[in-house]
Amino acid sequence: MSPEKTPILKVSKLVKRFGGFHALDGLSFHVVPGEILGLVGPNGSGKTTAINVISGLYAPDGGEVVFDGASSGGVASHKLVHRGINRTFQVPKPFLSLTVRENIQVALAYGGAAGAPSIAELLEEYRLKEVADRPAADLNSAQQKMLDLTRALATRPRLLLLDELAAGLNPAELDWIAGRIKALAATGMAIIVVEHLMGFIEQITDRVIVLNAGKEIFEGTLATAVREPQVIEVFLGGEHAH
Ligand SMILES: Nc1ncnc2c1ncn2[C@@H]1O[C@H](COP(=O)(O)OP(=O)(O)OP(=O)(O)O)[C@@H](O)[C@H]1O
Ligand SMILES: [Mg+2]
Repeated sequence: MSPEKTPILKVSKLVKRFGGFHALDGLSFHVVPGEILGLVGPNGSGKTTAINVISGLYAPDGGEVVFDGASSGGVASHKLVHRGINRTFQVPKPFLSLTVRENIQVALAYGGAAGAPSIAELLEEYRLKEVADRPAADLNSAQQKMLDLTRALATRPRLLLLDELAAGLNPAELDWIAGRIKALAATGMAIIVVEHLMGFIEQITDRVIVLNAGKEIFEGTLATAVREPQVIEVFLGGEHAH
């Protein structure tokens, strides 16, 4: 990451409430083009909620989200897809009765951008060629995650949000997807990776934000994070991360 780059995303004092509960409680961070930023923290710390707010699934209750110089908090997901934000889901929800190819076609029809990869390229690069004409319901969970990723990439995002994409992958698949994610970042895409697998986070991220109870408690490299008493306390003191 070159320090002179302007952030493509800036989140300031973000608040998201569910009833009286503050799932996000003043979260601030930024990400620059080409950077892979890890978002880590124990279960329930607000990682998915942060992605849901940044991707427009939820409107924030406070604070600001600025994407590419324009306020984006509360803007609907489909509009943000066209502005250049897309994401994968912790639990992918493909159209189960449609084939893999048709699922990607839907994403292209809905959010396809100039210069987006072709269906053939996506099927090849994300190891879905063999199952291209099978219904998404037939895929195993790793393949469903790859389909979810191709669906996001079909819209050619400049900011890609990955929510536990690597969970459930075997070591060889992890190495392979780490390489794919790094290759995407090398094209200038900003990527936020939510993950519990610290080895994977270590392998791919430039920097991490550690979340606890909806707030940032650490920002820096993972190597430094694991020596911070507050970070150790959060990971070892509470409910154990899966
Ligand atoms: N739609 C919702 N309605 C009510 N509470 C919610 C909702 N979404 C999230 N929460 C609550 O907000 C908190 C943060 O949830 P979130 O899913 O963001 O955590 P997370 O860090 O992604 O956890 P995990 O690592 O288990 O995926 C949790 O206490 C959760 O129960
Ligand atoms: Mg989550």
